[in-house]
Amino acid sequence: MPAYSYAACLENAYKVNWRIEDVLADRSFDPSKRWLPLSLSAAGAVTCLDEAGKRALTQVELAAYAHLFGYVEEFIAPKVSTLAHDFELENRAAFDALTNFAAEEVKHMNLFRALRGRTNAQLGFELALLEGETSTARFVLGKSNAAALLFISALEWMTQGHYLDAIKDDSGLDPFTKVIFKAHWVEESQHAQLDHLETMRAFEALTPAERGRAFDEVVEIVTAVDGLLQQQVGHDIANLARLLRRAFDARETAELEREILRAKRWTFVLSGVTHPRFAELFRGLATPEQQQRVGAALESLFAAEPVVSC
Ligand SMILES: [Fe+2]
Ligand SMILES: [Fe+2]
Repeated sequence: MPAYSYAACLENAYKVNWRIEDVLADRSFDPSKRWLPLSLSAAGAVTCLDEAGKRALTQVELAAYAHLFGYVEEFIAPKVSTLAHDFELENRAAFDALTNFAAEEVKHMNLFRALRGRTNAQLGFELALLEGETSTARFVLGKSNAAALLFISALEWMTQGHYLDAIKDDSGLDPFTKVIFKAHWVEESQHAQLDHLETMRAFEALTPAERGRAFDEVVEIVTAVDGLLQQQVGHDIANLARLLRRAFDARETAELEREILRAKRWTFVLSGVTHPRFAELFRGLATPEQQQRVGAALESLFAAEPVVSC
């Protein structure tokens, strides 16, 4: 297992810390470019759109991508803030690192809220984006620390994979997307390491039976997230129709639903759970039987066809 430390995470966090105004500055997106890499988008897979339509798809998907990170930060920030109190006075390095982590997530939420204003202004209308972040946060925060943290670990490791594997070297990608998600990447790097430490701590406090229950809760969280992704797929299709000023027939709609959902499932779940650092954490915590059970549950969940409401 990697040797992460609270003190090193805080030290690195201070080195890379940025301000929202420096990231946004007077930048804007280039409408002639893709706003999301093809590996995080359905644009490479759909056949019912021409090149301009595919580019437009990446633009509405980018708005959803940024919004969904802000959406999950609604439960990450309070969870980490609560965990910090376990260390107050007794372990200042851990308290300081976790408190700073929570503050960074609050900053990220504000970055993504500001970005929403820019994407709306650039695309010319208010995009439909997933609502209900407070009730989703309540649902996740109602699960055990172990389950919530394991899921959060997957989310934060995925930010690392997305930037390094998909965003950083994509020569056709809008430069503003790169600036935003490079900034997110450098701070999320410490978050992912702190999640690792905190997930280990949470699982160590559990009995074998409680650990088994925590893995069931992780499946419950992922199942709920899949339902949210399906809702956002409906919004993406409505946003795309509005942006392109056209309607989609039944065949086109079915293809868009299937491919956008496939891309979102990869982006928001599978790219996280298959990240090598997350996989290492999971294998260290789950028995072979638990690993098999969680894997089978996710496989059957993702085999299901979209149930999208536009
Ligand atoms: Fe974040
Ligand atoms: Fe984070």
